[in-house]
Amino acid sequence: MLTRSIVLIGLTGSGKTTVGKRLAKQLKCSFVDSDDVVLQIAGKSVRDIFEQDGEHAFRDLESRALEVIFADNTPKVIAAAGGSVLAESNRQVIANSDSTVVWLDVEPSNLLRRVTVGSHRPLLDGDASAALTAMSTERRSLYAQLADLQVDANVHDINRVVKTVLKHVADGDHK
Ligand code: S3P
Repeated sequence: MLTRSIVLIGLTGSGKTTVGKRLAKQLKCSFVDSDDVVLQIAGKSVRDIFEQDGEHAFRDLESRALEVIFADNTPKVIAAAGGSVLAESNRQVIANSDSTVVWLDVEPSNLLRRVTVGSHRPLLDGDASAALTAMSTERRSLYAQLADLQVDANVHDINRVVKTVLKHVADGDHK
């Protein structure tokens, strides 16, 4: 049984949602994605928030979503959207949450092949390659700062990523 929540962090397209859903299934616990909670709070999509209200409004909603998610102590798997680590207050919420924080680390060039541009990723609408590189440069140290476990998620086999996380969690539980 999962005793502490698992928080997945990492750049957009790094596989947080796919890996998170598989982990939750294996661990028989719930899965929550901060973008979904933003949508619930705002009553509109991430894209609509960016286009109608701007990134600043989205970041405020993202902070509220993280507060809502972490206010509930039931152990679960949480995907924290790529930009969640930007605000110091969000980083504190995650760091103080007594969760296992897992960074899915993927090179921007590999991300470019994977991401679905459009949908909930308005920041990639222009030059997606440049945007991903800039995000990586800005955020790598923030992900590293927060992570209990850094997983090389460049691999194609998502099951390997899932297994690595499960092993880390199981080892931790026996300490
Ligand atoms: C963002 C990542 C997206 C979404 C929004 C902004 C970012 O979520 O929250 O487009 O700043 O990296 P995912 O990381 O789930 O793709």
